[in-house]
Amino acid sequence: MSNVTVRGGAALSGAVAAQGSKNAALPILAATLLVKEPVRLRNCPRLRDVGNMLHILESLGCTVFREGNDLIVDSGTAANCVLPTALSRELRSSIFLLGSVLSRFSEADAPYPGGCEIGNRPIDLHLAGLRKLNAEIVERGGRIRCQGANLSGAVVDFEYPSVGATENIMMAAVRAKGTTVIRNAACEPEIVDLEGFLNACGFRVSGAGTPTVTVEGVEEGHGTTYCIMPDRIVTGTYLIGAAITRGDVTVTGTRPDTVDALLSKLSACGCDVTAAKDAVRVRAKRRPRCVEFTETRPYPGFPTDLQPQLFSLLSVAEGTSVLVENVFENRFKHAQELKKMGAENRILDRTAVITGVARLHGATVTAHDLRGGAALVLAGLCAEGDTVIEHAERIERGYEQIDLAIGALGGAVARKEL
Ligand code: UD1
Repeated sequence: MSNVTVRGGAALSGAVAAQGSKNAALPILAATLLVKEPVRLRNCPRLRDVGNMLHILESLGCTVFREGNDLIVDSGTAANCVLPTALSRELRSSIFLLGSVLSRFSEADAPYPGGCEIGNRPIDLHLAGLRKLNAEIVERGGRIRCQGANLSGAVVDFEYPSVGATENIMMAAVRAKGTTVIRNAACEPEIVDLEGFLNACGFRVSGAGTPTVTVEGVEEGHGTTYCIMPDRIVTGTYLIGAAITRGDVTVTGTRPDTVDALLSKLSACGCDVTAAKDAVRVRAKRRPRCVEFTETRPYPGFPTDLQPQLFSLLSVAEGTSVLVENVFENRFKHAQELKKMGAENRILDRTAVITGVARLHGATVTAHDLRGGAALVLAGLCAEGDTVIEHAERIERGYEQIDLAIGALGGAVARKEL
């Protein structure tokens, strides 16, 4: 467990480099099992979730090394198709391993991931898609047992464009017999990154980033070197940091096109936004204006993973904003924590009505989940006095050394291991 203490008052200013994307790294790490030769992944963030995924890969028999920001995974030695229970429950994305383990070993045995702090998170779409590819799946005693000796291409038509299910089916399909067409696929940039990795390994995937992804099965792939895309959620968090502290922050080494939905909200709040090829600058000279209406949607809509951080910003904006969470049913736990800091908000089911206050004050608050925790750091930066955030280890699931990154921008965030 860890705590962070955030001292409010300083305007963030300067440049910070974006880390590699967690949500791209996790499925790509799962996909390393699809080839028997070593893979070098550049720009891999050092995060708890990535560490847990590596432990799972090791438990399956893979060899893993880190060299600076590179991870080298050799799955040539992998020999086990049973995912470890405790580690897999801790890392929800372990469900991505179902498709790749099944493809590699023709069988997979995984614990049911269960719910989590932001909602129920069922896996029905993952399982229905795998069954379409001819996998036999039995769910019993909290475990999922899959047999897939004859995986074959099929049309998989998702009722909802689930990110994880799209990725899982792409991985299960690359070595299946024939062609798989995924309809109503999620269009997130991390899916395009997974396609890039799979094709670099010699597989044949096309259409990622659109609602139709096509995978032509091939017998074997090969090792490769691949660079993970920059993290758009971390990019967005630091840009909101500029807006909320009336600062001037440039995030470098990023992809401005992947944060378009946020940039238009920041412009609407009155910030100056300048995007270059691989950098974005946000300058805020005055108190942000409210944003009448925002709803989270699958990409290219406003991302659910930036909803809590935008919530903090709107909590100090001039006027009343409405924020609707369409993607996860239980993702407003930060609202009650922000109230402890003087914020005014009302939640009705999936809708938050936020009345901006001129100033928040420091308090002791809890990070209930990863992005909600980041939202509290942002709120603490603009509050009067000190904010202590408990369970800050949840923030470390997705942010690499957030204390140092914000410190380099002139903010004061101190981390304490308990
Ligand atoms: C991924 C991201 C997460 C992000 C989310 C939405 C990773 C590691 N995580 O999560 O950070 O918040 O996309 O952008 O990439 N659903 C079902 N049945 C299923 C699968 C999903 O009903 O079989 C529902 C979920 O409960 C949720 C919605 O679909 O309400 C979106 O989930 P999904 O797109 O699958 O998110 P994840 O892949 O879990």
